[in-house]
Amino acid sequence: MEHKDSYKVHTALAHPSLALVKYWGKQSKGINVPSTTSVAVTLSHLTSSVQASFILDKTLSNEDARVMIHNVEQNNNRIFALCDVIDKRYKKHLKNLSQDMQDMFSHRNFIIRGSNNFPTSAGLASSASGGAALTQAIIGMLNMTLPPKELSSLARVYSGSACRSTLGGFVVWKAGSLYAEPIVESEYWKDFRIIVLTVTQDVKKLSSRDAMSITRDTSPYYKSWIRYNNSLANECVHAIKNKDIEKIGEIAVRSYTAMHASSIAAYPSILYWTSGTIVLLRALQDMRKNNIPVWETMDAGPQIKLITLASSVEHISSCIRGVSDEYNLNIEIQECHVGTKVVMRQE
Ligand code: PMV
Repeated sequence: MEHKDSYKVHTALAHPSLALVKYWGKQSKGINVPSTTSVAVTLSHLTSSVQASFILDKTLSNEDARVMIHNVEQNNNRIFALCDVIDKRYKKHLKNLSQDMQDMFSHRNFIIRGSNNFPTSAGLASSASGGAALTQAIIGMLNMTLPPKELSSLARVYSGSACRSTLGGFVVWKAGSLYAEPIVESEYWKDFRIIVLTVTQDVKKLSSRDAMSITRDTSPYYKSWIRYNNSLANECVHAIKNKDIEKIGEIAVRSYTAMHASSIAAYPSILYWTSGTIVLLRALQDMRKNNIPVWETMDAGPQIKLITLASSVEHISSCIRGVSDEYNLNIEIQECHVGTKVVMRQE
């Protein structure tokens, strides 16, 4: 499709949000309102970049928005849901835009292009960083700036965890809340490290959205998962403020294992792990037995993320390389620091 006239391109960059205490379960009312309190850290180095621009072309019909990720056209329902909320919440602001801009937004005549410098939809929280960058890019395209709470609440409409990725540092998103809140900024803990182990680049077969609803509807452990996880969240916030890495590590392991246990017990059973994942999980348990300070967490995919301090990164990475070579796993290792909030890139 050739477009006649394009408006300025607005680019936003965001990093994934890695949950130490997981969000896994939605309330039945509202859009992506969590049943669990999650506590997360934003990851540096892994970045989603999203560009949004209006298309001035009077021949386009309603709902001609195009959404491309790595040049592949995407289903745009979630973006339309986000735009519907913008229409309702920011009616007054939209009325002050030029008539052309009002028409283009109401007809959804814009194009969104996104890319990630890490595997997409593979359990590396690309929906969190992508959703945060996308929301910020659309807000930029509408010449708006929003306070952090409002931006977080809007990003949540696209994808729950995206509300956490709008903020940098360590954040908490309370059960029932519409936005995430900061605990400490990214500079607070300079030697905190996350090592991302990419086990496979394959796209996951079951989205976290569907997996959460199957777990809620069929897992006998769902209610106890929610109770248990919420009890971990307060402890985790406290441990972050005290820079207590051992406590954070223990809580992270407890949270992800309980989340996966409740999903594995659902029917049909939800199992994101591969044989490579299990080899690594066993190796990590052995490393802890040998007093190496490393704790893992996992999301809706086979990848493993390690929590540690800067002083242990080299040793841990060399142990993981050893396991990867021994079992022929071809694991990719990426070191991340605590990342910063979503930003607009000035062109
Ligand atoms: O926001 P979603 O739909 O991508 O769900 C994220 C769910 C997990 O990554 C598994 C956990 C979390 O808290 O990030």
